[in-house]
Amino acid sequence: MSNKGFILWFTGLSGSGKSTLAEFLTPILLERGVKIEVLDGDVVRTNLSKGLGFSKEDRDTNIRRIGFVANLLARNGCGAITAAISPYSSIRDECRAMCEGQFIEVYVEAPLEVVEERDTKGLYKKARSGEIKNFTGVSDPYEAPENAEVTVHTGSESIEDSANRILDYLVEQGLVPAQS
Ligand code: ADX
Repeated sequence: MSNKGFILWFTGLSGSGKSTLAEFLTPILLERGVKIEVLDGDVVRTNLSKGLGFSKEDRDTNIRRIGFVANLLARNGCGAITAAISPYSSIRDECRAMCEGQFIEVYVEAPLEVVEERDTKGLYKKARSGEIKNFTGVSDPYEAPENAEVTVHTGSESIEDSANRILDYLVEQGLVPAQS
């Protein structure tokens, strides 16, 4: 198995399961001998993007930074999983264009009603009450991908099912060995 680098670019609403899926996939990929690093939106915002807010400009800066680092990893034979909302398709496309490895966009789809019902961080409630402004899906846009390589539906399928579909794609593409 060659060590071909790639970017697994997750995009989806807050609470759709991007981080959970990244955490679920990481040990499986490591187990199969794939070098992997996760760039999680919430984590990146505590260091690399510390101080950035949620205006379009700040989100674009955040995503460009994530794309830049993910590309450094990918071009050195590492798999990079990015888990940020990345709501704007043009910036996702920009990251795709600059990626020197394979770029795999994964739409982590879940209906707004579902993520709002989950409200894992209590932020949707605050967004509805107006306490938080410009909240993606409520008071700020989310541009769903039109040509994602993989789409998973976390509102209606299990995490194992979603993860397996992503894994199957990576295996098909020769980026990850099939289970030994
Ligand atoms: S992105 O738009 O720049 O890609 P990112 O994924 O880094 O967003 O951060 C999103 C996380 O920040 C959400 O999961 C949520 O926990 C928190 N957050 C705080 N304010 C907002 C907001 N206005 N819109 C979306 N997410 C927000």
